[in-house]
Amino acid sequence: MDVRISIIGTGFVGAATAFSLVQAGSASEIVLVDIDKQKAEGEAMDLLHGVSFVQPVDVRAGELADCRGSRIVIYTAGVNQKPGETRLDLAARNLAILRQTLPPLIAACPDALFLFVANPVDILTYAALKWSGLPAEQVIGSGTVLDSSRLRMHLGQHFGFDARNVHAYVVGEHGDTELVLWSLANVAGADLSHVDPLGRPPLNREQVFADVKNAAYRIIERKGATYYAIALAVRRIVDAVLRDERSILTVSSLVNGPYGLHDVCLSLPCLVTSEGRKQILELPITAEEQIALNASAVHLATFSKELGL
Ligand code: LAC
Repeated sequence: MDVRISIIGTGFVGAATAFSLVQAGSASEIVLVDIDKQKAEGEAMDLLHGVSFVQPVDVRAGELADCRGSRIVIYTAGVNQKPGETRLDLAARNLAILRQTLPPLIAACPDALFLFVANPVDILTYAALKWSGLPAEQVIGSGTVLDSSRLRMHLGQHFGFDARNVHAYVVGEHGDTELVLWSLANVAGADLSHVDPLGRPPLNREQVFADVKNAAYRIIERKGATYYAIALAVRRIVDAVLRDERSILTVSSLVNGPYGLHDVCLSLPCLVTSEGRKQILELPITAEEQIALNASAVHLATFSKELGL
């Protein structure tokens, strides 16, 4: 089956994402687009030279118009966080880039699923929805899929279990106002309190949450950028869409109604199908979690208004 995936932006995140998709055999064709054409060309050449080791895939550099026919457009273009910067600090610059790139992209592939990864991801997803007029199912952000993975990794390490047997969600903003839905977290179906191992210090939820929330800051301080784990998170979302997996993933999408929230893009557990964000799951969260979720939504909505969205 022919599956074209386009990646806009071939910086650290775009290039690592392309690498993860080439390894996964997700696409038959990957189009790389960057304002720096030579960078996109170089990445395409580098990836293509490994083609004899993976499932057949064509990787090429192109213009925005070359994205036509794409099944999925992965948007990673923009500046990234410098040490000490928040994701929201990037908003004005990255929105200006989106303003220019979105119209030719939509013209090239109006039926694609648009997956935003560049930060601030919730704001860019919201802006793209507003500016494109596309249906909410079709415009999503990687949101807190990565944060939920970080959480599952920490819990898995604490309990000494495979992270894949841990179910736990980070929701809200992909950023400083995010929250953990501790009331729904479980290991092998059991509440965390049932599996906290004897003879070890009990799980320090505040510490785990801080480690998850501040992960990107800690990595950026050390190596200047984050890209491997986000690339794997994107691959996870892409596979859920291409294989119609009906996976529950905390992608960012437009929320209008669920959890009493309106007209804001943020992450919640969502049913992801071949159509994109099919449904937001309304799960029984606690009053305390609802308050934190409301605060995250207000924070994003206020910020969006300040940006004129
Ligand atoms: C991170 C970037 C993707 O959290 O925001 O690593």
